[in-house]
Amino acid sequence: MLRSVFLAAADSSRLGRLVSSASVSKKAARRFVAGADVADALRAARELADDGLGITVDRLGAETVTAEQARVVRDEYVALLGRLKTAGLTPAAEVSVKLSALGQRIDDRMAYEYAEAVCATAAEAGTSVTLDAEDHTTTDSTLEILAELRKDYPSTGAVLQAHLRRTEGDCRELATAGSRVRLCKGAYAEPESVAFQDALDIDKSFVRCLNILMSGEGYPMVATHDPRLIAIAEDRARWFDRSADEYEFQMLHGMRPEEQARLAAGGNIVRVYLPYGEQWYAYLMRRLAERPSTISVLGRALVPR
Ligand code: FDA
Repeated sequence: MLRSVFLAAADSSRLGRLVSSASVSKKAARRFVAGADVADALRAARELADDGLGITVDRLGAETVTAEQARVVRDEYVALLGRLKTAGLTPAAEVSVKLSALGQRIDDRMAYEYAEAVCATAAEAGTSVTLDAEDHTTTDSTLEILAELRKDYPSTGAVLQAHLRRTEGDCRELATAGSRVRLCKGAYAEPESVAFQDALDIDKSFVRCLNILMSGEGYPMVATHDPRLIAIAEDRARWFDRSADEYEFQMLHGMRPEEQARLAAGGNIVRVYLPYGEQWYAYLMRRLAERPSTISVLGRALVPR
């Protein structure tokens, strides 16, 4: 029930404007979101890098509906990558990009061209780009654009969602040399026809996908906070004889920071997904939908220390 309340709240622009403008909400959000602008993202990225963590910076924003909006997003990513390089934060920091923000719904050729410009800037900055996964109607287009981008920028990362029934097949396609694949459970509400609905079925699919990626020739990026799946990933790495630099763990900023530190102290590569931007409200509501107990963390953030 709470899940649907938070998902509805995420889509309410009126509530969003109200909550986003309150300074107390901004303070509470700071644990999960770097802040509103690039300077905030650089500051948070520096702290994570100083703690020995990798970073993937995400500019929060809604799907674009005009070519002009998509161009603005492209230019912001190009500027962000320049700032990360100047600050000496590359290659520790890479960027995550949603193709819908680069105009995928308007024209996927345009989204490819804008993503290509971001990948070219990332390459100049000595780092790479990962294409976030969105709802299942975009998966074919996203994987086609990924394949095109990888011809010139082979380190461009894919994201595969274990809840989709097709994902085992996609893992097989992508478990090849040089390929970087982030495996996550999947954050979008999807119909039964294309996605497992039961949490246990999603976990089982995650493990089948993990087996394919860990036994393949690519570079698996295990994106979960789930202790059971983290333990299985560590086990599979041993099983398939992968050294610590041949895969990585990824978690969201502010989620299980003590587990991030534990994994890093154990010699694992850990990358933190660091979102920033004015549109932090919808992102926060989606995290609350996944895990309502996060409210207690928000509550603590509101109490002055
Ligand atoms: P889930 O939320 O199912 O929790 C499982 C268990 O883990 C819980 O029961 C609890 O025991 C433990 N746990 C979880 N969170 C905890 C916390 N904060 N504190 C303590 N214990 C906790 N999705 C998508 O569709 N496209 C994308 O591109 C991405 N990208 C992405 C990048 C990264 C780095 C991450 C970590 C995640 C994504 N996701 C995503 C989101 C992903 O699909 C998924 O919705 C969330 O990660 C939640 O699923 P989990 O696997 O973390 O466990």
